[in-house]
Amino acid sequence: MDSSEFQFQFIHLNSVESTNIYAFELLRQKKIANGTVITANFQNKGKGQMGQLWQSESGKNLQFSVLMSMNIKVENQFHLSQLVAISLKQWLDTLAVEGVQIKWPNDILVKGRKIAGVLIENSIQGQEISHSVIGIGLNVNQEVFGNFARIATSLKIELDCFFDCKTLLKEFLQVFQSNYLLFKSGQINLQQRYLDNLFGFGIPQHYKDVEGDFLGVILGVLPSGKLQINKNGKLKSYDLKELKFLS
Ligand code: BTN
Repeated sequence: MDSSEFQFQFIHLNSVESTNIYAFELLRQKKIANGTVITANFQNKGKGQMGQLWQSESGKNLQFSVLMSMNIKVENQFHLSQLVAISLKQWLDTLAVEGVQIKWPNDILVKGRKIAGVLIENSIQGQEISHSVIGIGLNVNQEVFGNFARIATSLKIELDCFFDCKTLLKEFLQVFQSNYLLFKSGQINLQQRYLDNLFGFGIPQHYKDVEGDFLGVILGVLPSGKLQINKNGKLKSYDLKELKFLS
């Protein structure tokens, strides 16, 4: 996809299993163009990371999937995650939300509370990612949340006003598009921007791995997406299933 063909097209659904699943189904049927954005008022099987369910009150929040074909090499797949996370952070800053940080790999926190989650699913051909479905759930107008591992928040809670989800989506996509074009032309330092806004970067925090709880310091993220942590003076790399944040 290059700048000339970067045009978003929208499909809005009232209720769907999951916008990510729907996007992949259209892709399988070859009925979807790059840049297609699928939104839903309600998902009855919204997909979260690591097989979890993404729950969201009907009609109150933004839930959408964007189909992108970026031809990124598999070993650089984390670039897309970084691009999305940076764009969400940048856009939330424009709304004057304070204390926005990226939690590895691509959750968005506001003062430690989760406001958005991202699930990117890829289809791979050879050494390249041929298609990516970028699924984003952003808490907008919901005010009460269930008990999640991390406390949730929303724009309503943070800014004390209700928002129009359609307008928010268009604004976010503009930020994402301009960052995407900067990325394609090598004008954005993804790693620097990501680390500058990363929750826990360079700060001792509590984590848990297969050996138990420990105090570690995030030192970086590899292009594959593995998180690098200084654990008792040793550099360790973790993937999502191998590490739990205790802070
Ligand atoms: C996470 O666990 O934090 C990731 C949540 C991603 C949720 C979004 S909502 C729109 C898209 N469709 C899905 O089924 N999941 C993603």
